[in-house]
Amino acid sequence: MTGPMLAVEGLAKSYRASRGTVRAFEDVSFAVAAGETVALVGESGCGKTSLAKTIYRLQDADAGSVRLAGTDITRLSRRALRPHRRLMQMVFQDPYASLNPRLTVGRILEEPLIVHGIGDRAGRQGQVRRALERVGLAAAAAERHPHQFSGGQRQRIGLARALMLEPGVLLCDEPVSALDVSVQAQVLNLLAGVQEERRLAMLFISHDLGVVRHMADRVLVMYLGRIVESGPARRIFARPAHPYTRALLAAAPVPDPDVEAARPREILQGDPPSPIDPPPGCGFHPRCAFAEARCRTERPPLRTVGDRRVACHRATGDDEASLRLPFAPQPH
Ligand SMILES: Nc1ncnc2c1ncn2[C@@H]1O[C@H](COP(=O)(O)OP(=O)(O)OP(=O)(O)O)[C@@H](O)[C@H]1O
Ligand code: SF4
Ligand SMILES: [Mg+2]
Repeated sequence: MTGPMLAVEGLAKSYRASRGTVRAFEDVSFAVAAGETVALVGESGCGKTSLAKTIYRLQDADAGSVRLAGTDITRLSRRALRPHRRLMQMVFQDPYASLNPRLTVGRILEEPLIVHGIGDRAGRQGQVRRALERVGLAAAAAERHPHQFSGGQRQRIGLARALMLEPGVLLCDEPVSALDVSVQAQVLNLLAGVQEERRLAMLFISHDLGVVRHMADRVLVMYLGRIVESGPARRIFARPAHPYTRALLAAAPVPDPDVEAARPREILQGDPPSPIDPPPGCGFHPRCAFAEARCRTERPPLRTVGDRRVACHRATGDDEASLRLPFAPQPH
């Protein structure tokens, strides 16, 4: 196969709620190559989980497409989806909620193999043992139940389960945000190690920029259901181009003196607007320190600016210097 392992094009999803239509995300396009980690960042409610669930086909898209290893899976029937589905696996934020408490860990890990008719019992148990070993758990863990493990261990089990079918794509939705800070780094290192050795195409969702910086090759910044900036992670951390990315970085101390020196100082005020009634023009304008008149009426298209894509009227220039500080804050 040539081309990306995962390619998302113009994807959109709305929910009908009692108060109106929630536009969870719209017009989302990106691709992830084998061996690459793409991080999706943004505040709570911006649509990250909805996007992951739609890619994973836990719910259907309203528009757009998801291609997995070159095959458009967006509208395949459940039955037609099955052989493709095993190529893509998801690791959830809350490993406990996603592990059946009544089953032993061995049975939980064996289940995907049984569903796909892989191996005989002895062969499958060998695979379970190797999977447990890879995520740093003893073979004896197979006999126990999920509640007998700590949060970090449960997330290791969730990862082992995701790896059983040898996927090419791993979707991780806030995989460490439910864990104690002291065990987050261990689980992140494990994820990064597995991603590299299996050349996984990984979509890594997090609201924590410190975590993203540790993991990502490229970053997608989402605001109110739209990608507002995307590009190489190092470049985005060094020179955020979109005012929202600048504000997110301003709110997140980064343990690196170079990044810290370049960190903008704007403050992100208030909460994001409701996705039921998004503002006209640029969705970020009510909170943007750089907003001007047209920002209130014209939606900025996502366009190429230097080494990245940015949806901001005021991001200018195709050289490094102009990306650094393209404009000065305006009084509201
Ligand atoms: N099944 C649903 N029905 C109605 N609205 C929903 C549903 N799922 C999500 N939403 C709404 O869609 C928007 C996006 O939610 P989503 O869970 O994708 O955000 P998120 O970025 O994952 O947030 P968080 O960081 O808190 O996990 C929110 O306004 C949420 O309330
Ligand atoms: S388009 Fe205008 S309101 Fe939106 S981020 Fe850019 S400057 Fe701010
Ligand atoms: Mg979420």
